[in-house]
Amino acid sequence: MKKLIIHGPAFTALDADHVQALADCLVAIDDHGWIERVLTPGDQDFERVRQAAKKAGQLRELAKGEYLLPGFIDLHVHAPQWPQAGLALDRPLEEWLNHYTFPLEAKFSDRDFAARVYQDFVHTLLAHGTTTAMMFGTIHVSANLELAAQCRRQGLRGFVGQVAMDNPEETPEYYRDASPAAALRASEDFIQRVQETAGADDLVTPVITPRFVPSCTAETLAGLGKLAAKYDLPIQSHVSESNWESQYAIDHFGMHDAVTLDHFGLLTHRAVMAHGTQLTHEDMGLLKERQTALAHCPISNAYFGNGVLPVHYLLAAGNRLGLGSDISGGYTPSLYHNIRQAVKSSRMLEDGVDSKRPASERGVAASRITVTNAFYLATVGGARALNIKSGQIKAGYRADLQVVSAHSSFTPLSTQDVFERLLYQTEAADIRGVYVNGHLVYEN
Ligand code: GUN
Ligand code: FE
Repeated sequence: MKKLIIHGPAFTALDADHVQALADCLVAIDDHGWIERVLTPGDQDFERVRQAAKKAGQLRELAKGEYLLPGFIDLHVHAPQWPQAGLALDRPLEEWLNHYTFPLEAKFSDRDFAARVYQDFVHTLLAHGTTTAMMFGTIHVSANLELAAQCRRQGLRGFVGQVAMDNPEETPEYYRDASPAAALRASEDFIQRVQETAGADDLVTPVITPRFVPSCTAETLAGLGKLAAKYDLPIQSHVSESNWESQYAIDHFGMHDAVTLDHFGLLTHRAVMAHGTQLTHEDMGLLKERQTALAHCPISNAYFGNGVLPVHYLLAAGNRLGLGSDISGGYTPSLYHNIRQAVKSSRMLEDGVDSKRPASERGVAASRITVTNAFYLATVGGARALNIKSGQIKAGYRADLQVVSAHSSFTPLSTQDVFERLLYQTEAADIRGVYVNGHLVYEN
């Protein structure tokens, strides 16, 4: 691959509260897809580097109104649920799973169907500015290999999970692993086949994926904990995602689901747990201690969560936290839309929503988050959760980037205004180009 230099204005999160605005910069990408340098006009070789890149045909000059952002990191998404995005969200979680989700996921026993859906889905994620996704597949090894193949083919950084679900009480006969041994064998088979087919610096990482506590027997949870340790792999699941789901663990295991997952070795520094709206402060402390990240899925939580995740509290407490679309508990793959919902939900948590109560008793004080906080979650927070060098425009990080076009303005805007408006108004049509590992993987 040729060296590439991108020239234009950029925004990148420094921490949860601060964004660095680079009014004019050169992002120099080496031939292995890493950001080598970020130059600003104060650097004495700025003009020389720009001219040399231009002469060599290695320069991308952003057009007027275009900005460079880090690619987004979607920490929680169900790839096989793409065909039902936006369907049946009026149903409660358990019903939605049994009547819509499981019948759809069962169709992925057909690899051709899987190939058609996954080709479109991976393309769609890239088209929304997502450069890394941590994904659930289905219980089918061949379909999950197809998802891995699509990530490699189209250039998405993919964390792909072979779903384990074998509890006959909470899964239908037509869509479940036949036994704990079958679930564990399928997981190990998938891991080995992804690893056997991996190229150098591969884009795909296999993920240990117990669907959630209600779907799994104790034997399977225990075996998956051991597999994660044996192969040193990331883990993904759902935790305390609704009233029904959190009560299930208490009734069947006599512990909160976070504690149950921990008991089986599934809360590690490589684990990402989705939702968490029903976690107690003690559970949150446990996640922090284990350095297990939470995937905040604000759109999905509005439907199934029975509560709002206290993001401000978790950030202040030092918990690891990123953002997830949860297709199709969430109806859109856009992390821009999830950034907006994260901000809106936090405002409703702070103010409270029942105006029949006195204002002072309605909400949870100091809960609001800013759009800057949410941008951090979609970039740096996600990268830290996955332990990858992505999510920042900074030397030593992967060149996982998006070029977005701002809507025109009738009045002059401050840099902060431009940034906020980009996050509030960008739609897929405004995303002009997406890079993963320095490769242009999407253009519009
Ligand atoms: N809990 C178990 N499976 C699922 C799923 O597919 N989506 C969501 N949102 N929650 C789940
Ligand atoms: Fe989910």
